[in-house]
Amino acid sequence: MKFSTQILALLGAITCALASVVRSSDSANGLDFVYPYPVKSYRFVSQRKHFTMSYMDVMPEGTPKGSIVLLHGKNFCGATWNATIQVLVDDGYRVVAPDQVGFCKSTKPSEYQFSLMALAQNTNGLLNSIGITNATIMGHSMGGMISARYALMYPNETYQLVMVDPLGLENWFSLGVPYQSPDLSYSSELETTYDSLKTYQQSTYYAGTWLSSYDVWVNMLLSIYQGPLGDRFAWNMAETTDMIFTQPVIDELPNLQMSSLLMVGDKDTTAIGSKWAPADIKALIGHYEVLGKEVSAEIPGCTLVEFPLLGHAPQIQDPDTFHAALLNWLP
Ligand SMILES: *[C@@H]1O[C@H](CO)[C@@H](O)[C@H](O)[C@H]1NC(C)=O
Ligand SMILES: *[C@@H]1O[C@H](CO)[C@@H](O)[C@H](O)[C@H]1NC(C)=O
Ligand SMILES: *[C@@H]1O[C@H](CO)[C@@H](O)[C@H](O)[C@H]1NC(C)=O
Repeated sequence: MKFSTQILALLGAITCALASVVRSSDSANGLDFVYPYPVKSYRFVSQRKHFTMSYMDVMPEGTPKGSIVLLHGKNFCGATWNATIQVLVDDGYRVVAPDQVGFCKSTKPSEYQFSLMALAQNTNGLLNSIGITNATIMGHSMGGMISARYALMYPNETYQLVMVDPLGLENWFSLGVPYQSPDLSYSSELETTYDSLKTYQQSTYYAGTWLSSYDVWVNMLLSIYQGPLGDRFAWNMAETTDMIFTQPVIDELPNLQMSSLLMVGDKDTTAIGSKWAPADIKALIGHYEVLGKEVSAEIPGCTLVEFPLLGHAPQIQDPDTFHAALLNWLP
C-alpha cells in the first residue's frame, strides 16, 4: 500500500514536471528570443478564452518614483524597449513592458475580436494584477494608439500619456484609403521575408538609413513568422491591421485629460493602407511632420517633441536624443 502510494506520488511529480515543461515552452508562444529582463506571465480570460500575456516588470533600486508602462508597436515586442527600460529604471521608475495578445511571447489566438479597447482592458487587468493603478502610459506606433485608448478608458489610472509616432493621427478611410479585408492582408502577411521586413522598416522606421544593429529586430519578428505559430501570427497580424484601420481614435484625442507628450520623427511616413491605396491617396497620408503639429494643437496639455531627421522608431534610431527628450519632459 505504502509502496503504491509512493509510486503514485512519484508519477504525480513526474506529470507535474512534464506539465510545467510544456507550460514553460508554450509560454514562449512562438517567440524564443531572449528578453533583457525576466519574463512573467499574466493569465486571464477574455472573450471565453484563456490567455497568457507575457511581460517584464523591472524595479529600480529603492522606492520607485512612479510606474511607466511601455506598449510596443505592431512590428516590435516588449523586448525592443530594452534601452528605454534601462534608462527609465536608472532614473528611478518601475517599468512594465507587456506583449499584447497576438504578439511576441503572448498567446496567438485562433480567433479573437481584436479591438484597441480589448487590448487596453487586458493591459489594465495585467497592471491591476501587479498592484499598479496609477502609471504613465507610453506607447509606440500601434502601442501609441492603444495607450491613447487606455488613457481615454482609464483616465483615473493614467497619470501621464506619452505617444511615440503613434498610429491613428489621421483617419485613413476618410482620406480615401479603401478597406482591405483581413483575408487579403493575411495572404500578404504569409509572404513576409527578411527582405520585405527590412525594406519596409528601412524606409519608414529609419528614414532610409540602416545599421546592422537594426537587424536584431527584423530577425526577432521573422522568427515568429517562421516559427511553429507562424500561421496564427500571420492571421493575428492581419486582424490587428484591420483593428487599427477600422478603429480611429483621432476624434477623441481632444478628450484626453492628463498631461501628454507626443513625440514624432518628422521623416515617419507610416500609414495603414498606404500599401494598397491608389497613388494619389498614398501621397496624402502619413505626413508626420504635419500631423504632429496639427494633432498636438488639438489636445489640451499636450507637448510636442519633433525629431526632424528621424523616422518611425526614434527610440531605436537615435536612443540618446530620444531618451534625453523623454527624461526632460518626465517629472
Ligand atoms: C501617480 O503617480 C505619480 C508619480 O508617478 C504621483 O505624482 C501622483 O500623485 C500619483 N497619483 C495618484 C492619484 O496616486
Ligand atoms: C538591446 O537589445 C539588443 C538586442 O539584443 C542589443 O543589441 C542591445 O545592445 C540592447 N541594448 C541595451 C541598451 O540593452
Ligand atoms: C478607475 O475607474 C474605473 C472605472 O470607473 C474603476 O473600475 C477603477 O476602480 C478606478 N480605479 C481607481 C484606481 O480608482
